[in-house]
Amino acid sequence: MNIHSMEKIVIRGGKPLVGEIETSGMKNAALPIIFGCLLVKDRCVIENLPDIDDVDVSLTILEDMGAKVERLDRTTYAIDATNVRGGCSSLALVRKLRASYYLLGAEIGRYGKAYVGSPGGCDFGCRPIDQHIKGFEALGCTVRMDGSYVEAVAHNGLKGTNIFFDLVSVGATMNVMLAAVCAPGVTVIENAAREPHIVDLANFLNTCGGQISGAGTDTIKIKGVDSLHGCTYAIIPDMIEAGTYMIAAAATKGHLKITNVIPRHLESITAKLCEMGVSVVEGDDFVEVFLEKPLTGVNVKTMPYPGFPTDMQPQMAVLMCLASGRSNLHESVFDNRFRYTEELIRMGALIKVDGKRALIEGTPSLRPARVRAVDLRAGAAMVLAGLATEGETEIDNIQLIERGYDDLVGKLRGCGADIRKENAV
Ligand code: EPZ
Repeated sequence: MNIHSMEKIVIRGGKPLVGEIETSGMKNAALPIIFGCLLVKDRCVIENLPDIDDVDVSLTILEDMGAKVERLDRTTYAIDATNVRGGCSSLALVRKLRASYYLLGAEIGRYGKAYVGSPGGCDFGCRPIDQHIKGFEALGCTVRMDGSYVEAVAHNGLKGTNIFFDLVSVGATMNVMLAAVCAPGVTVIENAAREPHIVDLANFLNTCGGQISGAGTDTIKIKGVDSLHGCTYAIIPDMIEAGTYMIAAAATKGHLKITNVIPRHLESITAKLCEMGVSVVEGDDFVEVFLEKPLTGVNVKTMPYPGFPTDMQPQMAVLMCLASGRSNLHESVFDNRFRYTEELIRMGALIKVDGKRALIEGTPSLRPARVRAVDLRAGAAMVLAGLATEGETEIDNIQLIERGYDDLVGKLRGCGADIRKENAV
């Protein structure tokens, strides 16, 4: 039994957060880069990894497959996949996280074949991998899926090709990059996702000797290379973690300086917060967030980067609950990412959900309650709601939060939050 599931977070809210928080490395860059080390028969040193469960699970999967994994310090690991055997990842571990689907691209890239358990991950609607498969088949693989495994085999070897994705997919874009980086010939991915973590994966693979250009645009060109060599690489800061703390500052009417950020990655979040009346001061590698006037409602539609990130949707909903007037929240990326609103309604939020849209009426305050995390970002949103609410709020299911936030309780406590973890029983 995962001990986290026996724990809850207890918050005595209503206090402004004041101080400084340092952002950790980006989870959604760290995971594909860790699995990307499978492509390298050499030692890679990866720096600025967030200290989170998903990173631990990913490293354990690789170690289990024969990789040598050495922790050099709290956020730095050496990974040597020289002696890894393909097709033998642990089904139990793979099912713990969605990002394990990057094993498919990495195994195809290294062996020309893959055999991996079907991915798990946050449950908000169906999360198919048809575009990943479209890319693998275009590269020459025959792909077969039974209930619990995905098998891909390039019977005549991989060959560079053109792939036009039917929809913008972060996972499919990165998975094809992994599969194609050593595929003979040239692969062009069109209608590619443009997230900063896609650029980070491309930069990591290029540092290992890859020849990838165009990452960050909707057209990525990959010239297959014979092999990759080891390197030292530092992960980019987590824009979603930073955005979560920006909203914490606004929701508690506090003043936070959030360091180790790339302000450009936060542009859509900053723009929406300013539209609501939040003050944001940008430095080279930090943002300062505080409130000088009352929050007003706003309309937000989540979009692929550089639009407003879907991973900030639940957190933004909390701020909308506390703003005066009406807000519209349109989730255009996932089918069913509003399950958390039932938990906010238990705290007195006025939210009406209709399919992919939520209509939110601001209230002067929420009321404390015992709620639970329904997924990773929803769990973070419940923490924000508790911090903004007078009285004691308890949040169950916190293992979902620990998956993706490095020392959330410690970082918030460092800025004056009355927040602790306790046994849930
Ligand atoms: C990644 O998920 C992230 N997860 C998600 O973050 C994030 O919300 C999402 O990208 C969008 O930014 C990881 O990186 C591990 P997609 P992913 O493929 O790759 C549909 C978090 O909280 N789709 O861009 O699964 C899909 O159903 C997590 O850190 C297909 O239809 O996202 C969704 O509606 C939550 N077919 C949309 O596209 C496919 O083959 C975007 O999904 C692939 C995706």
